Amino acid sequence: MIPIRTPSIFAPASTPAFAIRELSFLVLAIVTFIFVVVAGLTVYAIVRFRRRPGDDGREPPQVYGSTQIELAWTLVPFLIVVVLFLTTTRYIFAIETRARAANALEVTVVGNQWWWEIRYPALGIVTANELHVPVSDPAEPRPTFITLQSADVIHSFWIPQLAGKTDVIPGKTNRMWIDPRTPGTYVGQCAEFCGVQHAGMLLTVTVHPKEEFALWVAAQQAAAPDLPEVRAGRDVFTSVACVNCHTVRGTPANGVFGPDLTHLMSRATLGAGVARNTPQNLRAWVNDPASLKPGALMPAMKVSGDDLDRLVAYLVTLR
Ligand code: CUA
Repeated sequence: MIPIRTPSIFAPASTPAFAIRELSFLVLAIVTFIFVVVAGLTVYAIVRFRRRPGDDGREPPQVYGSTQIELAWTLVPFLIVVVLFLTTTRYIFAIETRARAANALEVTVVGNQWWWEIRYPALGIVTANELHVPVSDPAEPRPTFITLQSADVIHSFWIPQLAGKTDVIPGKTNRMWIDPRTPGTYVGQCAEFCGVQHAGMLLTVTVHPKEEFALWVAAQQAAAPDLPEVRAGRDVFTSVACVNCHTVRGTPANGVFGPDLTHLMSRATLGAGVARNTPQNLRAWVNDPASLKPGALMPAMKVSGDDLDRLVAYLVTLR
């Protein structure tokens, strides 16, 4: 069982995330120092100059204008901002200008309301919501370069342990990369408000050891099984509107509006992370997606109980 890792920028597993943690520590150190100085001086002034018994109640001598003090409290914050700006710029450039390695894995991720399409152009794989990549061992690095596009509104692709947020913008192609060093499943989330199910737009990145990744690729490239015992369900599937939005390779279903279902059951969740992918949940989902994900753009399919059973019996064979 691959461990699921808690999303935290303080537990990085990939070069851009390590850089972000370093920068965060620098910023935290600077702001902690500022806090200690300001809070310390405030406490000192409160204690040292508090009203004491026997005070005559008059104000102490007032000071109006001091060039030295004004220069100090203008220049010091300005220098702090310059340091933060230059350091941040240096980190951003170091991450953005990283050359694409010849052996890099290329993935295209398309943000949709409210799910992620994931394509591997060179491998002929299309899946959804669960990105699978090989581990990038420092001794044998193999980064993953991700092209980000949007089908509708602005989303943001964010896996805190692997890299910073990158916006996913209609009409614009953004690029980012990750090189996860430790196998595991990393949890991410759309990080730009994109409509009613913004919170239901999760994604995971599963990082596999090299051989295991090859097995995953082979399984995804395989044709969908076509079992005679679920032919009736397949006929239901191809006779209703499913085929307009979904693809199952090897069948007449070639829609691209919704997730590719060729290996639907290889995914752990339904609806971009809103429910576990069990036959019961799948049945509820097909019957009425809004019961699990209010606002989901997939309509309730309104197939009769028997046909629904046949349809689900077919879908669960798509491993
Ligand atoms: Cu997509 Cu928020």
